[in-house]
Amino acid sequence: MKIAIIGATGKMGAWFCQEFIKFGHNVTGIGRNAAKLRELDSKHHIQGTTDYTSGLTGANWILVAVPLDVIVQVVQNSLPFIDKGAIILDILSVKGSVLPILGKVCKEVGVQYVSTHPMFGPGAESMKDRNLIITPVPEHEKAVAQVKEQFIAMGARVTEAGAEFHDKMMALVLNLPHFLNILFGKILASSGFEFPLIKQFGGTTFALQEFLSLNVNAEDPAIYGQFQFENPAFHDLLKEFQELIGQYTKIIETKDPALFKQWMQGNDTFFKQDALYSKSNSLFYRILKILS
Ligand SMILES: NC(=O)c1ccc[n+]([C@@H]2O[C@H](COP(=O)([O-])OP(=O)(O)OC[C@H]3O[C@@H](n4cnc5c(N)ncnc54)[C@H](OP(=O)(O)O)[C@@H]3O)[C@@H](O)[C@H]2O)c1
Repeated sequence: MKIAIIGATGKMGAWFCQEFIKFGHNVTGIGRNAAKLRELDSKHHIQGTTDYTSGLTGANWILVAVPLDVIVQVVQNSLPFIDKGAIILDILSVKGSVLPILGKVCKEVGVQYVSTHPMFGPGAESMKDRNLIITPVPEHEKAVAQVKEQFIAMGARVTEAGAEFHDKMMALVLNLPHFLNILFGKILASSGFEFPLIKQFGGTTFALQEFLSLNVNAEDPAIYGQFQFENPAFHDLLKEFQELIGQYTKIIETKDPALFKQWMQGNDTFFKQDALYSKSNSLFYRILKILS
């Protein structure tokens, strides 16, 4: 299959170029910066171009790996060069309100459109056993089966979800852990103590939590901010969080052991549904060993 990747000079774009090449596809990376494209070629042997005509003509799939705020413009600029019947894919982490717009502009020129979301970053070794969400777009459902089949063949665990449900899930699995780790970092950073001193006092739970937090806080604030700003479900979750903080504060202030137990046991019952539950303690120490 001939695959063009727009945004090939970015983290995910470059990752997908390499992954599709591994599976024998003919890949062209498209970017706006010739120097970055040359670097991709010398480092990873990815053939690249800044020219949409040569890069897009004849492509069966066009994967658009650009941020949410520019995707509509980028797709509109590309459509005149894309063959009828080809499939455009996005990999947007937050679907926001752009899917119907992209669905409409693609339909008008006879191009199919499938919205996907790889639930992994550019550090992933491959798609094997990684979650990937496909959000079918009205009037473009026919292309979903082909995309699904291809990603399953590449090892991904594919789930289909509508845009609203996708964003609700992202509020829980993406925005919430990012938010909690950013907040954790903020509380430590504003404590007035130097980090090495805090770490000297840290126990095992702190070590693991700190490791997660340092990874989240090292990410690109522009991208992480956009994930949170543009997901309405996360705004609802933040309100719920504030309410829970109020309830939690009351429990702590009233020192009510029964209420505290009720909270923790409720969570414990919930987490028992996880297959990892019975081995979580031994795994915890194994992970700590890797970190030490
Ligand atoms: N990073 C992740 O872990 C992750 C995981 C899943 C999905 N995603 C999704 O993947 C997409 C890309 O994320 P990323 O982390 O790869 O971002 P990134 O590293 O910042 O790459 C963005 C790419 O978009 C290009 N670009 C930006 N503005 C453009 C414009 N106006 N016209 C043309 N090209 C433009 C950039 O080109 P230049 O190099 O020339 O600036 C670059 O190639 C986003 O939609 C994100 O939600 C990211």
